[in-house]
Amino acid sequence: MMVVTQYGNPEERGMYMEGFGVAIIGCGAIHRVHADAVLNNGMGKILWFVDIKEDRAIASAEKYGGSWCTDYREVLEDPRVNIVHICTPHYLHSKMAIDAVKAGKHAIVEKPAAMNLEQARMMAQAAKENKRRITINFQNRFNPTSIKAKEIVDSGEMGKIRGVKGLVTWFRDTDYYVESGWRGGFQTEGGGVLINQSIHTLDLMRWLVGELESIEGHVSTRALKDVIEVEDTAEATLYFKNGARGIFYATNCYTDNSPVEIEIHFEKGTLRIYDDELIKIQDGKWERLIDGISEASPYKSYWGKSHATLIKHFYENIIDGAEKTIIPVEEGMWSLEILDGIYKSSATGNRIIIDNSL
Ligand SMILES: NC(=O)c1ccc[n+]([C@@H]2O[C@H](COP(=O)([O-])OP(=O)(O)OC[C@H]3O[C@@H](n4cnc5c(N)ncnc54)[C@H](O)[C@@H]3O)[C@@H](O)[C@H]2O)c1
Repeated sequence: MMVVTQYGNPEERGMYMEGFGVAIIGCGAIHRVHADAVLNNGMGKILWFVDIKEDRAIASAEKYGGSWCTDYREVLEDPRVNIVHICTPHYLHSKMAIDAVKAGKHAIVEKPAAMNLEQARMMAQAAKENKRRITINFQNRFNPTSIKAKEIVDSGEMGKIRGVKGLVTWFRDTDYYVESGWRGGFQTEGGGVLINQSIHTLDLMRWLVGELESIEGHVSTRALKDVIEVEDTAEATLYFKNGARGIFYATNCYTDNSPVEIEIHFEKGTLRIYDDELIKIQDGKWERLIDGISEASPYKSYWGKSHATLIKHFYENIIDGAEKTIIPVEEGMWSLEILDGIYKSSATGNRIIIDNSL
């Protein structure tokens, strides 16, 4: 039986079954991961590539097929477009997503949801009012390691969580910031290693362990002091409502992009995620639950391999008409709330209460 939800009637879903009309806004580094995913999942046709840099929009339209333009408002007026992928700098996410849902489109927004909680709240409100979906691209929730770890946490088989550790030690140099001028500025990126590189890890820690009670942390700009105005290093202690305590460290000042590490310490053992590997340690015994051996990715290794899975799930989400959107803006706000707490704590030296009211 077909369930009619606020997200559309059966006829509308029938239309989607014939394939979504897709537009990709922003044709920089990440957009080809989105374009390849749409091409490979067979659930949609890319009708438009949009970029203010005309040469980028043209190059993508030539490579993948479809039309191009330089003003995203043009594609929002195209009734054939059902879904837009927003792959633009952070400061544009909320405006573009709100415009998209007002124009009747669903939106996949690259992380972070927005520059701050205020903007994200407006996005959530606009999605609700216009009965359209916005998902935030935290693709690492779909990594096999994350899915298995979540399953173990939810099963309770290892007892209560006592602690969690998140480590992101990456390399970013001057070239990375020069090639895209919006990176490194407060007005355009909204922050540094917290909002851009390590936000995935903060999202996973919150998703796996639960709501926070408070946070204490510090940010600073060290090796990239002459290049960026935002922080290149951050650390925090996270106090969760369930009594667990978290430690977190992130930096763009390392000399390599090391695998991200997340460790969960339970009453009855430990789970350790090390990139694509998941290890369970119990009674002194190590068990490799996921071996980390997987096909090489054509993209940057630190982007992970789960963009395509998230995109497919979102498309199915629209077709199914399920009440809950996968990774809705409200969940995209979890990590924004954590980093807001770290910035406030760093500025005041205080432990900051997280209100979770979103
Ligand atoms: N999920 C991930 O793992 C992951 C990885 C990399 C980047 N990202 C995110 O993807 C987004 C884009 O990052 P990027 O590295 O591809 O940046 P980028 O600078 O390489 O690309 C951004 C593109 O947007 C275009 N643009 C700027 N203003 C525009 C406008 N008004 N209309 C249309 N296009 C416009 C730029 O010209 C540029 O081509 C960011 O939110 C970033 O955090 C996510």
